[in-house]
Amino acid sequence: MNSFIAWIGGKKLLRKEIVSRFPEDGFDRYVEVFGGAGWVLFEKEPGKELEVFNDIDSNLINLYRCVKYHCEELQKELNWMAISREQFFDSRSQLEGRGLTDIQRAARYLHIIKVSFGADRRTFGTNKKNLSGTIDYLTLVQERLKNVVIENKDFEDLIKVYDRPRALLYLDPPYHGTEKYYEGGFKLEDHLRLRESLGKVKGRFILSYNDDEFIRDLYKGFRIESISRNCGLTNKGTAGEFNELIIRNY
Ligand SMILES: C[S@@+](CC[C@H](N)C(=O)[O-])C[C@H]1O[C@@H](n2cnc3c(N)ncnc32)[C@H](O)[C@@H]1O
Repeated sequence: MNSFIAWIGGKKLLRKEIVSRFPEDGFDRYVEVFGGAGWVLFEKEPGKELEVFNDIDSNLINLYRCVKYHCEELQKELNWMAISREQFFDSRSQLEGRGLTDIQRAARYLHIIKVSFGADRRTFGTNKKNLSGTIDYLTLVQERLKNVVIENKDFEDLIKVYDRPRALLYLDPPYHGTEKYYEGGFKLEDHLRLRESLGKVKGRFILSYNDDEFIRDLYKGFRIESISRNCGLTNKGTAGEFNELIIRNY
């Protein structure tokens, strides 16, 4: 199924390539460490394994929790929201204040994701939007999230808690050079901290990144594949402007 939101760095185009590389002999738990719009989680078929979805963005995780636990109330709250520039800025400023309930907060966050330009949550987008289609679709998303554990942790802490020998971790960190687009940013030391954590995991991991010399160097020794934006494996496997990397420890 599709995600219910667009997201900067969302893996809409790469999701099938990633799922096709999941270990053939299975896994007992699936942990999506940098959740965002969850394109890979929504592509993956729910199985018997534990599924965990995490992001550090607390407004985003509150939205997922409200879809999971209070879907109808959220749909009602969204029903009166208009696609207008004024209401976009009202939602933004209300999110910065205090006093909203979790459901009101979730509705405003979904509203600004939907009506902003490229889901950047900062500028009002002038292209056509379908808010009522999204409101209806939330019912299916609620069903998909029924058995998913939703977490709001920094990646290092999350990996420590959920890593096991039969775990599959999928990681999609902010790309090197695009960190400023995410709430709270992502610094050079965070890229290094992630590499350090992944060097110690007991389970298997699949990591997506932009094709960049710094990242290739950082993950030297792991299995690295280069994929072009239109999702073909690249022949040369060299760093190129529009390529992405899929890095695995298996
Ligand atoms: C490239 S996006 C993930 C996109 C996602 N795979 C999708 O398909 O939409 C990276 C995500 O990492 C989250 N993030 C940034 N720093 C983090 C941290 N220290 N721990 C956990 N998540 C973090 C951001 O909030 C953002 O949603």
